[in-house]
This record gives sequence, structure tokens and C-alpha cells, in this order.
Amino acid sequence: MRKVYKKISGFIIMTMIIICGFWYIEGNTSNYGSNDKDKLFEVNTANGSEKILLVNEKHGLSGNYVPEGLSIPNIPFSNGSDDEEKHVAGTVVKPLEELVNAAKKDGIILLGNSGYRSYESQEDIYENRVISQGKKLADAYVAKPGFSEHQTGLCIDITNKNGYFAKGTKEADWLAKNCYRFGFIIRYPYGKKSVTGIEYEPWHIRYVGKEAAKYIHDNGITLEEYLQK
Ligand code: DAL
Ligand code: ZN
Repeated sequence: MRKVYKKISGFIIMTMIIICGFWYIEGNTSNYGSNDKDKLFEVNTANGSEKILLVNEKHGLSGNYVPEGLSIPNIPFSNGSDDEEKHVAGTVVKPLEELVNAAKKDGIILLGNSGYRSYESQEDIYENRVISQGKKLADAYVAKPGFSEHQTGLCIDITNKNGYFAKGTKEADWLAKNCYRFGFIIRYPYGKKSVTGIEYEPWHIRYVGKEAAKYIHDNGITLEEYLQK
């Protein structure tokens, strides 16, 4: 009888080790933890379909989510940017360089300000903003850690030499008019806080690919609305 118990407990332990092993491998070989896959929305495109990652106050990422191919694009940055936030996801590098170069040809100097931010960095930014401006204002402009698109590496805040990037400046107006041509959208448009959860941010562009960006731009909608269409 004892032998049978030994065999059964040995079997259970082995099964648990195998399950944990699979769990570990899944968590370490895929950028998406099991909690992150449901933020990928499939949309129909001219050539089939594509998956677009949605991160907002309702769709968070796991703390250890790190984008693929993080690298520093060959664009000028503002003096305030630290090394981490100069990075963007691999897919964003070329379109971002093309956007900044096209702006330059039009006499517009765009500077990268803040791209990828880890969970921990966003945590620092959020906490500091709450201390300096209070929770209400912090929540209007800064996503809580785990709920920031900056952790995807698919967005970047742009600024200009004055560090004043507002509607009506030639840099913000150029970006709003042209970013879709390179696959980017103004992620938090004016008057859409009820949809995006964030106030108007003319500086925050998100890469979604050219087809989605053109549709979103032409129809004056948000990413949330595009993914529900
Ligand atoms: N400013 C944007 C919303 C963020 O903190 O992710
Ligand atoms: Zn931003």
C-alpha cells in the first residue's frame, strides 16, 4: 500500500514540475504574459488581418512585459530624456526616423522626449506627479503603472526646442497633420477623454501601422473606437 502512495505522490510531484516548467518557459520566451494576450485586438485589413495592442485604463500589462527589439532610433532627443526613454520597440524605429526626417525636410524640428518606460519608471512618474500636482491632475495625464502605453514601446512623446508642444505651435500642427502617413496616431485627441481616459496630449504619438493610422486620422476617431468598429 505504501508503495502505491509513493508512486501516486511521485506522479503528482512530477506533473506539477512539468506544469510549472511550461509556465516558466511561456513567461520567459513570450513578451506577452498570459494576461497580456487579451490586449491584442484582431482587425481586418486590406490584406487579411493584423493584431493591434490596446493599453488603457481598462487594459493593463503585466509588470514584467518588455517590448521586442527595444532600440534607440536615430533622431534628436530633448536634453531631459534618459537612456531608457530614448528606446522604442523594434517595429517603431524606422517609421519614427522617417517621420522625423520628413518633418525636418519641411523645416520642422521634432525631438524625441519619452518613448519606452518600464513599469517601475511609470510608477515613479505617477507617484511624483501625484505628489507635485495631486491625484486628479495626475490621473488626467499620467497612466497608472501597468496601464501606460509607454510600457509597450509603441509610442513616444515628441517635443520641440522650446519644450512647449501645444496645439498652434508649428511642430504640434505638423505632427497632427502628418503623423498618420508614417503609421502613427495622436493617441489622446482633444475632446476624447471619455473614450481614452486621458486628456488631450498633442505630443503623444502611437504607432499602429499605416492602414489603421490613415483610417483613424481620416475618420477623426480614437484607437478604442477603431478597435470596436
Ligand atoms: N501620458 C500617458 C497617458 C501615460 O502616462 O502613459
Ligand atoms: Zn506619452
